[in-house]
Amino acid sequence: FQPKLLAGRKVVMTAGPTFEAIDPVRGITNTSSGKMGYALAQACRRAGAEVVLVSGPTGLPAPLGVERVDVCSALQMRDAVVAALPGADVFIGVAAVADYRPLSAAEHKVKKSSAELTLTPNPDILAEVAARPDAPFCVGFAAESRELDAYAEGKRRAKRLPMLVGNLVQDGLGSDDNQVILYDDAGRHPQPRAPKTVVAQKIVEHLAGLLAMRATR
Ligand code: PMT
Repeated sequence: FQPKLLAGRKVVMTAGPTFEAIDPVRGITNTSSGKMGYALAQACRRAGAEVVLVSGPTGLPAPLGVERVDVCSALQMRDAVVAALPGADVFIGVAAVADYRPLSAAEHKVKKSSAELTLTPNPDILAEVAARPDAPFCVGFAAESRELDAYAEGKRRAKRLPMLVGNLVQDGLGSDDNQVILYDDAGRHPQPRAPKTVVAQKIVEHLAGLLAMRATR
């Protein structure tokens, strides 16, 4: 009998893109499919965790046994994460959150003649969760198009994260497979290219190892 790796743990996570409305028909978004986050939610659930998946708009069905909270914008995503956090042992940010949103969404469809769009920064959900005095164990993701090591490790340190999953957009965005490097205080741990379900299982194993080490410290 092998105990499940995340038995008794509560995991809150984000996945998918956000959609920042410009007017009733237009918005700012990106091409995150949600596949990596959903695969990871399923892997955490299979490992015995209670999982709350705060998801931007995707066409994917909720993973079995996972509580999914549907949101659209980054502000809604932050509110849903904060509401789900009590009792959480782990927070994982897989979502590709829009860094900016229109300052105000127009009530009616914007006409061609008014092409100006004023943007304002969105909150960094992961950084906010990691900075809380009662922060759970936080895992970040970084999608880069070049210099993965430098940018990923930079983000991990800037947000003071014990673990971060780095991937190149050309490897992971939208596809069924991914190739990731796991970063933690001990260094970098490259993983082979594999289906996202397999990559997700590797991430869970690494995360569970770090959680166990933390418990014995
Ligand atoms: O959805 P798929 O098609 O399967 O693609 C998966 C993926 C490529 C989107 C995923 O593997 C991934 O890398 N997700 C992070 C995407 C990203 O752009 O991260 P970032 O470098 O902008 O942000 C770094 C971290 O901070 C991420 O954990 C992100 O969720 C978080 N963040 C960023 C901005 C913000 N306003 N709030 C956040 O929480």
